[in-house]
Amino acid sequence: PIVPVVLSGGSGSRLWPVSRKLRPKQFLPLVETNTTLFQSTVERLGGIPGKQPLVVVCNENHRFMVAEQLHEIDHPHQGILLEPVGRNTAPAVAVAALHLLDKSEQYGSGWDPVMLVLPADHVIPGQDAFLKAVTQGHALAEAGYLVTFGITPDRPETGYGYIEQGELIAGFTAARRVAAFAEKPDAPTAQQYLDDGRHLWNSGIFMFKASVFLRELETYKPAILDASRKTLQLAQRDLDFVRLDVGAFAACPSDSIDYAVMEHTHHAATLPLDAGWNDVGAWSAIWEISERDSANNVLRGNVMTHEAHNNLVFAEERLVSVLGVDDLIVVETRDAMLVTHRDRAQDVKHIVSTLEKEG
Ligand code: GDD
Ligand code: MG
Repeated sequence: PIVPVVLSGGSGSRLWPVSRKLRPKQFLPLVETNTTLFQSTVERLGGIPGKQPLVVVCNENHRFMVAEQLHEIDHPHQGILLEPVGRNTAPAVAVAALHLLDKSEQYGSGWDPVMLVLPADHVIPGQDAFLKAVTQGHALAEAGYLVTFGITPDRPETGYGYIEQGELIAGFTAARRVAAFAEKPDAPTAQQYLDDGRHLWNSGIFMFKASVFLRELETYKPAILDASRKTLQLAQRDLDFVRLDVGAFAACPSDSIDYAVMEHTHHAATLPLDAGWNDVGAWSAIWEISERDSANNVLRGNVMTHEAHNNLVFAEERLVSVLGVDDLIVVETRDAMLVTHRDRAQDVKHIVSTLEKEG
């Protein structure tokens, strides 16, 4: 059996001012106009053989958005785990694994499902390629591997993890061992990885048996496992919601699955994912993947353009007109507005952190 686990706790700060703390990007219809990124993530799972109801791990502030968005698309789940504070993805995956293993009464002894861990904010147009990769990943995960899905890199991106491909794994088409995993390398290293042709980007989608992940976490980051156990033991169950205990969770070290486990494990395998994957990290990515008009502009809302090219213009409240400028990002909302160059889209997070400091 496969249980999808959707990680939905990020804040999407590079997509300010549309993405906000209380309404982060995964819950917004950013790429398609009638579906949110979270909903597309869930709908992508239709057609996976052996799939059980999913688990969501999110911040408690987002619980009603998650419940409502699942309800809208009529998708079953087996728990919405609520984090009182963000502790990054390693604890989030750990509490999901423990929550699932607790269900052996319901599923019978020997219950140790393969978790399909999914970020809530990716765009994957190639549905068939995605399903094929997940089916291959299922078999590898059942065989005890921690499976990562690799993307062929096309630039020396420093915001991703890099997978060094090792030897082929006999009996599994296209699967390779992970020789090394490097999370968010510096720019010269990323360039070297791009040039050597042996590296793939980590898509951030993982598959492993719940017990295998917990065993690796116990080996490399036992403090995260201990805190995750404690926060779940003390959790309050409130209908569909599992409210993790704040004291135990706040005491948990904050770390990503990439740094905590993937950089250390000797049991990782990688499968190529050739499905047009995009992680929609910044406004420039939205421009790249959205439909453009004849002047190569992506326009949303009440927007007028004249002799303007390659721009992304989002208007939420007012009429926005753009004249005689190229390669800009212009995002208008009720209380804030952003104007930047497409090349600077990654730096929007600096504005957000300054705003947060100033309260
Ligand atoms: N529940 C929960 N709690 N979810 C979280 C938390 C948390 O504290 N922090 C992040 N997430 C969710 C985000 O919403 C996102 O869906 C996913 O986990 C990944 O987190 P990011 O913060 O977006 O990670 P990243 O983009 O820096 O790096 C990861 O993704 C890259 C590909 O997009 C890594 O796995 C990289 O190796 C990878 O290349
Ligand atoms: Mg990300």
